[in-house]
Amino acid sequence: MAMPLLEVRDLRTHFELEDGVVKAVDGVDLTVSRGRTLAVVGESGCGKSVTARSILRLVERPARIVGGEVLLYGDESAGDPEDLLAAKDRRLRQVRWADIAMVFQEPMASLSLVHTIGDQIVEAIRLHENVSKAVARERAIEFLGRVGIPDPNRRVDSYPFELSGGMRQRAMIAMALSCRPRLLIADEPTTALDVTTQAQILDLLQDLQEEFGMAIMLITHDLGVAAQVADEVAVMYLGEVVEHGPATSVLTKPKHPYTQALVRSVPRLGQRGQDRLAAVRGSVPPPYERPSGCRFHPRCDAFMAGKCDEIVPVRVRTDDIDVACLLYGEGER
Ligand SMILES: Nc1ncnc2c1ncn2[C@@H]1O[C@H](COP(=O)(O)OP(=O)(O)OP(=O)(O)O)[C@@H](O)[C@H]1O
Ligand SMILES: [Mg+2]
Repeated sequence: MAMPLLEVRDLRTHFELEDGVVKAVDGVDLTVSRGRTLAVVGESGCGKSVTARSILRLVERPARIVGGEVLLYGDESAGDPEDLLAAKDRRLRQVRWADIAMVFQEPMASLSLVHTIGDQIVEAIRLHENVSKAVARERAIEFLGRVGIPDPNRRVDSYPFELSGGMRQRAMIAMALSCRPRLLIADEPTTALDVTTQAQILDLLQDLQEEFGMAIMLITHDLGVAAQVADEVAVMYLGEVVEHGPATSVLTKPKHPYTQALVRSVPRLGQRGQDRLAAVRGSVPPPYERPSGCRFHPRCDAFMAGKCDEIVPVRVRTDDIDVACLLYGEGER
């Protein structure tokens, strides 16, 4: 069994809006193991990004983390983990970048427009490492080169707007990696990129993972990407994780009808040219309305009336997968 590095337990992040409360993240449980890659998948709006931001407490009003634990384990196998949700602000600033670095879905939102790429990377490194500016700059150049930015000696002095979208995304990744975090959280790091660049970046992440023993939490709506890089997969639906297990099991023998529908909707390799398969039937319900019982029941092919619409499934272990579905276990009324 792999050792856990990060355990998220019953995380709840709600948006308190005038018209009501949007429970964007509502009971998320997931585990990232040391040195491994967890892919977090699910349809748009299911709470993947809010979960990622909540781990580092980077949510702003009207969002509020209303419950749960984010347990970060230390380097030694012994010792209790620390709950980042209970940590002091000062401690959290140390954890960001040094232990957990994050690549956001929108690189422009997280890079400063008025500073060069190099200055931003140098600052991130020096925030938690006692190295000179010159040393930090050398490392910035090194990592810009490693993420495939041509002519890094010159590019280090570019401003974000001088770079293409793909180069900006690489610069963000270089910034995260140059801090040598124990965990990299990457939110759709390759979605905006063309297929070739996407493949390069994914390869790079895997190389660096091997080199540094870094764990990766990769958020993606692309099950093909998950299949390519993940050791474990967590499937989210409406603010919770409904299925969690080894990637090979979840992506080839999924238990939850939602995951089964997601997997069916991916055109198989070698079947290109065929009609696109249907996506999951129906659509994600509006944010204020959470279905009773199992949140997926209105869209589920295996719906059992009087059961799935009334009983909230609890996660149970089935083979090597944890799944929240009444086909496999009991729930709570
Ligand atoms: N600023 C906001 N104000 C109100 N609600 C929000 C806000 N941002 C997110 N939400 C709510 O949180 C839910 C989850 O959003 P989140 O961005 O985590 O989804 P996601 O899984 O990352 O989707 P995508 O795949 O499109 O990136 C959304 O459905 C939305 O209802
Ligand atoms: Mg998102």
